[in-house]
Amino acid sequence: MSISHELLKASRSAEKLGVTRAHRHILLCADTATAKCAGAKQMRRSWRYLKERLKQLKLEGCGILRTRTACMGVCKAGPIAVVMPDGCWYGRCTPKVLERIIQEHLVAGRVVDDYLIARMPQAEALSDDPILVSADGSPTGDRPLRVEDGTSR
Ligand code: FES
Repeated sequence: MSISHELLKASRSAEKLGVTRAHRHILLCADTATAKCAGAKQMRRSWRYLKERLKQLKLEGCGILRTRTACMGVCKAGPIAVVMPDGCWYGRCTPKVLERIIQEHLVAGRVVDDYLIARMPQAEALSDDPILVSADGSPTGDRPLRVEDGTSR
């Protein structure tokens, strides 16, 4: 197989994952072998929550990408998550904190300062374009943002 054919196949896979439609990408340390930033059980719980919640909100492949990563080198106060392209590094990413990151940052475009541990300087020009989703969680361009209690804002 030629390199260009391989690249074409990779490009199709990336498109299938939703890369070409993505606004943001969340990467979560779930390095259970190292388990330095958090316990392996906590990492698994956080990763499972992130996966299920993005699926439930119908954000997967519709604006948000998620990736489970190996150790990111911080190794304290985890699980550690990074939101790109905004360059925001978050700590203590329990399911409760991930819910805030999902609702406030991934969907509404606001950095969650309470859990921010670092920010990449070139990412300061944060796009505050919210991803609007309907009350049932499906992405929409013209309906209000869904919030936890089912009301809208
Ligand atoms: S083990 Fe999570 S950042 Fe190192």
